[in-house]
Amino acid sequence: MDDVDGSAVGVRGLQELTADAVTRAMRAVLPAEFADADPLVRRSDHADFQSNVSLSLAKRAGRKPRELADQLAAELGGPVEVSGPGFLNLTVPDETVWRQVAARVADDRLGVGNSQLGRRTVIDYSAPNIAKEMHVGHLRTTIIGDALARVLDHLGAEVVRQNHLGDWGTQFGMLIEYLRAHPEARWRAADLPEGDTGTTSALDGLYKLARAEFDADPGFADRARRRVVALQSGDEPTLALWRELVGESEKAFQVIYDYLGVLLTPDDSAGESTYNRYLDEVSEEIERAGVGRDSQGALCVFFDDVTGPDGNPVPLIVRKSDGGYGYGTTDLATIRYRIQELKAHRILYVVGAPQALHFRMVFDTARRMGWLTEDVEVVHVAFGNVLGPGGKMFKTRSGGTVRLVELLDEAVAKARAEIESKPHTLLPGELETVARQAGIGAVKYADLSTSRTKDYTFDADRMVSFNGNTGVYLQYAHTRIRSILRKLPEAGAGQVDPSLPLHPAERALALLTDEFAGTLAEVADTLEPHRLCGYLFALAKAFTDFYEACPVLRAESEAVRANRVALCRLTGATLASGLGLLGIETPERM
Ligand code: ARG
Repeated sequence: MDDVDGSAVGVRGLQELTADAVTRAMRAVLPAEFADADPLVRRSDHADFQSNVSLSLAKRAGRKPRELADQLAAELGGPVEVSGPGFLNLTVPDETVWRQVAARVADDRLGVGNSQLGRRTVIDYSAPNIAKEMHVGHLRTTIIGDALARVLDHLGAEVVRQNHLGDWGTQFGMLIEYLRAHPEARWRAADLPEGDTGTTSALDGLYKLARAEFDADPGFADRARRRVVALQSGDEPTLALWRELVGESEKAFQVIYDYLGVLLTPDDSAGESTYNRYLDEVSEEIERAGVGRDSQGALCVFFDDVTGPDGNPVPLIVRKSDGGYGYGTTDLATIRYRIQELKAHRILYVVGAPQALHFRMVFDTARRMGWLTEDVEVVHVAFGNVLGPGGKMFKTRSGGTVRLVELLDEAVAKARAEIESKPHTLLPGELETVARQAGIGAVKYADLSTSRTKDYTFDADRMVSFNGNTGVYLQYAHTRIRSILRKLPEAGAGQVDPSLPLHPAERALALLTDEFAGTLAEVADTLEPHRLCGYLFALAKAFTDFYEACPVLRAESEAVRANRVALCRLTGATLASGLGLLGIETPERM
């Protein structure tokens, strides 16, 4: 990526600058062949950074590690110590640290570069199923996908959000047939079966009613099957009802997306039906290429390393023996579309871990077809389960699936109670908004802070706590900084005097603020938002230590105060930006 205007790199981090200095010293004291070796500079408990490059290179260079380290240290000049068998303990000069703080605080982007500039990245996330309500199973994909979309976009990627809605399949025959027979049913919860207390939405209700009639009445079941054929052959009145179903469901999904504050809109919808028109073409192409072959009348792709429990190969079915297509075929058409039409450089599928095999087969087939080349990166961004109380599968008391909206309502209600139970300065109108920001933020943070491949337990009480590694703790830390800054209206200029000595707590905080850009780059590479969560938590704790050790309002001089205010502003802005990239709002007060 070209760094035409300097923005791709941003403000270079202290770790990089330190590594550059070690590299310069290496060039001076070692033969040219070692000039490009990694200087192995890492954060350290013994100094700001440590390099063990002398230990790793000594043998090859025919030197004693300790001697080489001494030579490098002499060449480096600045605050450096040689310890143990030849470690270089590197301390960044106070002045350099202050200059770094000044450079970041003066920049809107806090010195974060555009490392993903121009990289077209398709993110497939959320993807609920039409005519069914969003349930707990859709929480993680929606939250993780959204955080990744925000981080990658911030780093300059051209993000294309794709909501792969489940909007096609045989169940639509039943639903449409039911709507035809009961035009009055539509979306009224009043039509729910006897005994249903109305906790189920109208959409789920329609599904249940249709299912019940399908199971009870063979004549209806027959008509429903014929309705599938009519839908597939493009019968207009049937399509009209299908569109109505899709539209109503999308409205219901949008209510949840707005409540959650995720970026998805109807413009991002590209459901399974989008790819219907390519299915014949794709299956013929696969057949012609010899990548798929006939197996009992079906067109199948086989894989060397994919076998069932009986040891027999498990195929990806491209075309069923009755000529029909399924979920797999749709995903083949989808990946081809994303590569050839959307011209993606990177495609992320934020989908639960149980679909790992499906994606392996889809990616492998796409590779064998030549659609997927080295130039395109595809990743199944897999995640674990959300578990219910006691770490068990999440079910309602009656054994049903848990509605997403109920979980969110619960978290918001608990957040509100938690905020109300403490002394606060919120106005009554503000409480509503802040409770929602805190409750939703809590749910998102609990999800994102768990390494995504692990399961976690949905525990609303713990999530909304002001203590511990929670979204509310971080939002609160941010409000504390905002409140300090409100008391210093005159100190907004961001003047930093680099000649002042640096307190250890100031140093620790400043070095952490300097790691923001690197952390974001790591999230972009690994697609692991929990790294950003861990970083922000460490930053908030370092701020607490700093604030205890270094008075800001009552600093010993104007100049000291100005430097500390700059640190407060940088920390506050970093917390706000980082939380924002996780999709978490930052209220001014709570
Ligand atoms: N609708 C699917 C489900 O609920 C998820 C779709 C994921 N994306 C994809 N391209 N297959 O399981």
